[in-house]
Amino acid sequence: MEKSLILVGTQWGDEGKGKIVDFFSKKFKAVCRFQGGHNAGHTIYKEDEKFVLHLIPSGIFYDHVSCFIGQGVILSIDSLLEEIKQLEAKGINLEGKLRISRYCSLLLPIHAKIDQLREDKKNSIGTTRRGIGPAYEDKTARRSIKAFDLEDRELLEQKLKDLVQYYNFQVESIHDSEPFKYEEVLANLISSYEEASRYFGDVTDSLEEIYEEGGHILYEGAQGTLLDVDYGTYPYVTSSNTLATSVGVGSGFPKSIFSDVLGVAKAYTTRVGAGPFPTELFCEEGEKIAELGHEFGATTGRPRRCGWLDLVALRYSAKLNNLTNLCITKLDVLDSFENIKVCVSYQIDEKETSFKSRQLHKVEPVYKEFRGWNCSLDACKSYDELPAEAKSFLEYIEDFVGVKISLISNGPNRDDLIHR
Ligand code: GDP
Ligand code: IMO
Ligand code: MG
Repeated sequence: MEKSLILVGTQWGDEGKGKIVDFFSKKFKAVCRFQGGHNAGHTIYKEDEKFVLHLIPSGIFYDHVSCFIGQGVILSIDSLLEEIKQLEAKGINLEGKLRISRYCSLLLPIHAKIDQLREDKKNSIGTTRRGIGPAYEDKTARRSIKAFDLEDRELLEQKLKDLVQYYNFQVESIHDSEPFKYEEVLANLISSYEEASRYFGDVTDSLEEIYEEGGHILYEGAQGTLLDVDYGTYPYVTSSNTLATSVGVGSGFPKSIFSDVLGVAKAYTTRVGAGPFPTELFCEEGEKIAELGHEFGATTGRPRRCGWLDLVALRYSAKLNNLTNLCITKLDVLDSFENIKVCVSYQIDEKETSFKSRQLHKVEPVYKEFRGWNCSLDACKSYDELPAEAKSFLEYIEDFVGVKISLISNGPNRDDLIHR
């Protein structure tokens, strides 16, 4: 490994990023989250034991890896503490291995409540109901409580009073719900922070030190490109920039932008929550993908909507992230399909259109069909061992998108990987 690496999802999230970050972590000195929050659910199987990480970087299972949470992450200290407890209960030691930026904006229980109240109304986005949207709103509106605000009690109290007042106006006048109690919010925040305070520090300095000593850093993206707040299927997106290009600001380490970029894509497409999904299947094939792929959200347990691989969207993602390589995951899920489709163009009223169309909900996907390989990929350990049909499928994707597929995942376990 010659360079640092940014790993991003190229679809609507849940591409299998956690597993791939865990695999690459072996070769890196540090793993850093740079955006999103505990809306993420990254699954890792470690010797048959299942872990789902929400805030903690997926490099945590290796003793030589330092884990960082950059300031672009929206941080729920309660969720962090819960996750740390769960990991420690399973024997994973975090002592001295985790550092979180003091610049992080905090996600408070107020934000989760507001998210839930909004989602209960009509026309919801189908969020994870964790409070991500309201917390990022506060950050942009300059009313966030930052982790470093906890270092100055007087300032904290003033800021928090204003924030509680701001939200109480909303809950009472719009949602007809119970107001938040300032004293309670303050006491909970202070006690959570005290428990977590040893993890906060300067992420920029630490990353720079590792980099200057020749160590390589792996930047772990959350969500996916099509959920990016600017370039995704707005307004059906998350509230952060999920693109690789947001790594500089989000990690706090400017040289992170010179890293290679690995895009992770499933061999088909899934989406949780509302919003356009051109290749969504409403038939038995979709149900079969959902069943074989165990497509239920790692964070919320919601069923994921399923469809064929959308190469129009994947090409769009590849360009936006300036991908240097691609990793295709869950190829094994297609093992028993007679025929496999990929979307190669979009049409509206028989006219070709692109992913940038504002009418994505209306597009008709045009498919290219492949013959399936109809056998288990379980035993395949090298690219040469893959059936010819699987190779044709992968090589078509690579040509269409214009990015080399350097890694293929053929099962949920750590060693279910094929290098190329
Ligand atoms: P992430 O959010 O991108 O990390 O992905 P999730 O963890 O939310 O969802 C991916 C799911 O697919 C998890 O349950 C993984 O264990 C599983 N998975 C990852 N790679 C593979 C694969 O190649 N084959 C199969 N069958 N499952 C996989
Ligand atoms: P990982 O990192 C899949 C989706 C939600 C919803 C939209 C907005 O595991 O791939 P939010 O709670 O962020 O305001 O919800 O974004 N979403 C994800 N979908 N994987 C994720 O993360 C997601 N994080 C958010 O379902 O549609
Ligand atoms: Mg996930």
